[in-house]
Amino acid sequence: MPEAPILALPLLEVEGLGIHFGGLHAVRDVTASVPAGQITAIIGPNGAGKSTFFNLISGFYQPTSGRIRFQGEDITRLRTHQVVARGIARTFQTTTIYKELSVLDNAMIGHRVRTRAGLLDALLRTGRERRDEEESRVGAMRALDRVGLAAQAGRPAGALTQEGQKRVGIAMALSSDPKLLLLDEPAAGMNPEETVSLMGLIRELVSGGLTVALVEHKMSLVMGLADGIVVLHHGQKIAQGTPGAVSRDPAVIEAYLGGHAHGGQMGQPGRAAGETGGAHA
Ligand SMILES: Nc1ncnc2c1ncn2[C@@H]1O[C@H](COP(=O)(O)OP(=O)(O)O)[C@@H](O)[C@H]1O
Ligand SMILES: [Mg+2]
Repeated sequence: MPEAPILALPLLEVEGLGIHFGGLHAVRDVTASVPAGQITAIIGPNGAGKSTFFNLISGFYQPTSGRIRFQGEDITRLRTHQVVARGIARTFQTTTIYKELSVLDNAMIGHRVRTRAGLLDALLRTGRERRDEEESRVGAMRALDRVGLAAQAGRPAGALTQEGQKRVGIAMALSSDPKLLLLDEPAAGMNPEETVSLMGLIRELVSGGLTVALVEHKMSLVMGLADGIVVLHHGQKIAQGTPGAVSRDPAVIEAYLGGHAHGGQMGQPGRAAGETGGAHA
């Protein structure tokens, strides 16, 4: 018998999802699901459409085809803050934290940006918003506690290690108390030790009931972490399955070895190079 994950209901389902920019089909006809209570990795070479996939799910981009369902509800046409309100939060490939502000202020901004109208709203303190501030503070502190940063709340975010700053970024997303957390290349810019620590955090969050989908272009990095893997290539899904099955899939091997040498690192567990997309020489 192949590894049989405990039957988990899909929290998120996409069907025939696609978006094109002019003639470029960044995501094309993707049907996939994210089971509740698991870690699902979206992998694929640089430019495969992974970040775009997250942009579609989180409402940053409107799909040109297909549907997105979350907890059975059609969320295809919802705006970002409405998606957040349903329980989906994300981090960005390039984490934008405010280094000179405190860790707590960052987490509070994360809460406000995600639950209010926008960044400007979050930065301006109007009378109406002062009432929301206490709510933001409570949500932010709870999120910092979950990522192990409660004791650092008063420090400037820029004083933390790279990994600490990543945790701030994750706290910013967690401050809206999501059911599904989307992480775009969480290990980018980290050394192997930091990567192991961050993976531990992701596992802890999932043990606590969170569902995680994460984007990564290095297959080796997700082999020991993900319950299931979705492989994108040129915007299309070419495989979905357990890490074992996916790593043996000929189409996946071809995608990784064909002209994307930097991604062809299957079978090298634990190698955590810290490049961001396109940063390699
Ligand atoms: N807003 C956009 N306008 C035009 N092209 C885009 C846009 N966003 C992404 N793309 C293109 O879509 C493709 C997939 O990009 P992306 O999703 O960022 O890839 P990945 O995250 O897998 O590296 C790339 O060719 C990229 O240039
Ligand atoms: Mg990307």
